[in-house]
Amino acid sequence: MVNELRSVGIVMNGVTGRMGYRQHLVRSILAIRQQGGLSLPDGTLLWPEPILVGRSESKLAAIAKEHGLDRWTTDLDEALRSGAEIYFDAQVTSRRAEGVRKAVAAGLHIYTEKPIAEDTEGALELGRLARDAGVKVGVVQDKLFLPGLRKLKRLVDGGFFGEILSVRGEFGYWVFEGDWQEAQRPSWNYRAEDGGGIIVDMFCHWRYVLEDIFAPVRSVQALAATHIPKRVDEQGRTYEATADDAAYGIFELAGGVVAQLNSSWATRVFRDELVEFQVDGTEGSAVAGLRRCRVQHRSMTPKPVWNPDLPATEDFRGQWQEVPDNGEFDNGFKVQWEMFLRHVAGDEPFPWDFLAGARGVQLAELGLRSAREGRRVEIPTLAL
Ligand SMILES: NC(=O)c1ccc[n+]([C@@H]2O[C@H](COP(=O)([O-])OP(=O)(O)OC[C@H]3O[C@@H](n4cnc5c(N)ncnc54)[C@H](O)[C@@H]3O)[C@@H](O)[C@H]2O)c1
Repeated sequence: MVNELRSVGIVMNGVTGRMGYRQHLVRSILAIRQQGGLSLPDGTLLWPEPILVGRSESKLAAIAKEHGLDRWTTDLDEALRSGAEIYFDAQVTSRRAEGVRKAVAAGLHIYTEKPIAEDTEGALELGRLARDAGVKVGVVQDKLFLPGLRKLKRLVDGGFFGEILSVRGEFGYWVFEGDWQEAQRPSWNYRAEDGGGIIVDMFCHWRYVLEDIFAPVRSVQALAATHIPKRVDEQGRTYEATADDAAYGIFELAGGVVAQLNSSWATRVFRDELVEFQVDGTEGSAVAGLRRCRVQHRSMTPKPVWNPDLPATEDFRGQWQEVPDNGEFDNGFKVQWEMFLRHVAGDEPFPWDFLAGARGVQLAELGLRSAREGRRVEIPTLAL
């Protein structure tokens, strides 16, 4: 059977940035083209046609040339008038709302990086605008597609844990200050006035990770720190780090699960992966990272006895079992893009809309409030 080919124009804004280029353009949209397009249930073959948008003409031209693309512009309005169906935004967070508003007005469907806006009210406003305009929307929730977390979710769904008691997560690594070694993250991440900060960055992720795998988040208690007060930017200039670079958070989930998540760009890794979650339940425990997931069942739990006078005699790490993949895990960003494209082209549902995006922003906003006021903050239910 010869498939009917259907092109779908995608305005990709912020494609010169880290995420826009690597994860979204190269590893998602171009990867879909490399696999020959995306097959839809009715036999149609969807062919994504990116239109690159950014601030630097020379950078856009270089990316286009390297990947054999011929459509790019520094003029967002022009791109939105080009007949494309989808607007994608991976700009710095502070620029997002304006881009999304323009795309809604132009009638395009919208897919965006998180956080979708700088505050909850702004995120809800985008949600209302999109709803009233009847356009389809989606927000990147990539951590759900990590092999380690998919295996963890499989354990939860299969009842492995019995009653889940607690979740303890460690995320982080050392981000260089930029003086004697170049920083491996953009400098705006460390300036609050430019939308930076680890709470704004990571709590959006923690909201959907906790809610999709465990249960709704009922409260947050966070302590924020700026451990490194001065950093050096891309131009070699020293700047004040005005945003938090570490957050120590406790989240109460519906049903009584306690989640405790540390997020830090000022810690050195003594773990197997850059993020790891330990889940303890009455029937068993698991440790899940980006790719791996290991378990210890109740029946296999050793009985350590506290005795600081003797060296440890047990190989505690060796007492865990690896959870098998039992399937192939494609790049999570690409998997989510494929879901969104099928959502736009047909009626496949896409659960992570702007309300989901707003819930992420809300947890970040209330986490910051908790840190500022030094108290536990309840999370009210959001609606558009
Ligand atoms: N899903 C994830 O895991 C994940 C990870 C990192 C970042 N992000 C999100 O992706 C977005 C981009 O982050 P990034 O790390 O790729 O950043 P980046 O600095 O590498 O890229 C930013 C992009 O925005 C554009 N831009 C527009 N106005 C700008 C301005 N005034 N200053 C600087 N850049 C400007 C840049 O040209 C560039 O294309 C952010 O919203 C961030 O929160 C998501």
